[in-house]
Amino acid sequence: MIVSAIAAMDKNNLIGIGSEMPWHLPKDFKYFKDTTMGHPIIMGRKSFESIDCKPLKGRPHIIVSKDPNLNYSSVNTVTTVEDAIALAKTMEGSDEIFICGGGQIYKYALNNKLVDKLYITAIDTSIFVDFDDWVDNDCIYFSKYDNDGWDLITANKVEKDENNIYDMTFLVFERNF
Ligand SMILES: NC(=O)c1ccc[n+]([C@@H]2O[C@H](COP(=O)([O-])OP(=O)(O)OC[C@H]3O[C@@H](n4cnc5c(N)ncnc54)[C@H](OP(=O)(O)O)[C@@H]3O)[C@@H](O)[C@H]2O)c1
Repeated sequence: MIVSAIAAMDKNNLIGIGSEMPWHLPKDFKYFKDTTMGHPIIMGRKSFESIDCKPLKGRPHIIVSKDPNLNYSSVNTVTTVEDAIALAKTMEGSDEIFICGGGQIYKYALNNKLVDKLYITAIDTSIFVDFDDWVDNDCIYFSKYDNDGWDLITANKVEKDENNIYDMTFLVFERNF
């Protein structure tokens, strides 16, 4: 059983603005779907709400919130990331468990060395954030991960096209510490 985290980010490690993803990249959605399909996925309460609390097909969801009374009809809820991983281990497809965000959950999992493998979509742009519309706290970043602690396993670049306005590279790292 391995615990993986999967995230897409721009050159500044930006992953979200407010509750939204700052881009629409069908190639990355497909990569996310293909990679996570059939495996349990763990998500923070805010990320789950950002997809209107509608579970993605074919993947059991575990939602993390500090609120023990939180209850969604179609998914499991737990109050710690460790409990989420423990529950995921009992589920079908648990040879690989995916932590799917957002910023707070990635940060907790990385800081506590709960992640064995990283799937990073490196989007080849620096998103412009218009601070007339947003405040600094609305910008959600992926935690800095120490490149020395991670071995790059694969890097597959895909070019932009009419539906995907940025080049991106699918990077896979494994923890070496
Ligand atoms: N680019 C990507 O790949 C990607 C992927 C996923 C999400 N996102 C983006 O990320 C943003 C959301 O991220 P976020 O950081 O604001 O929120 P989040 O991590 O999705 O959820 C935060 C919530 O999770 C719960 N939580 C966090 N840490 C916890 C812990 N250690 N133990 C128990 N519960 C914990 C808390 O819920 P309670 O407040 O209920 O206690 C907290 O408010 C959105 O913009 C989304 O679009 C981007």
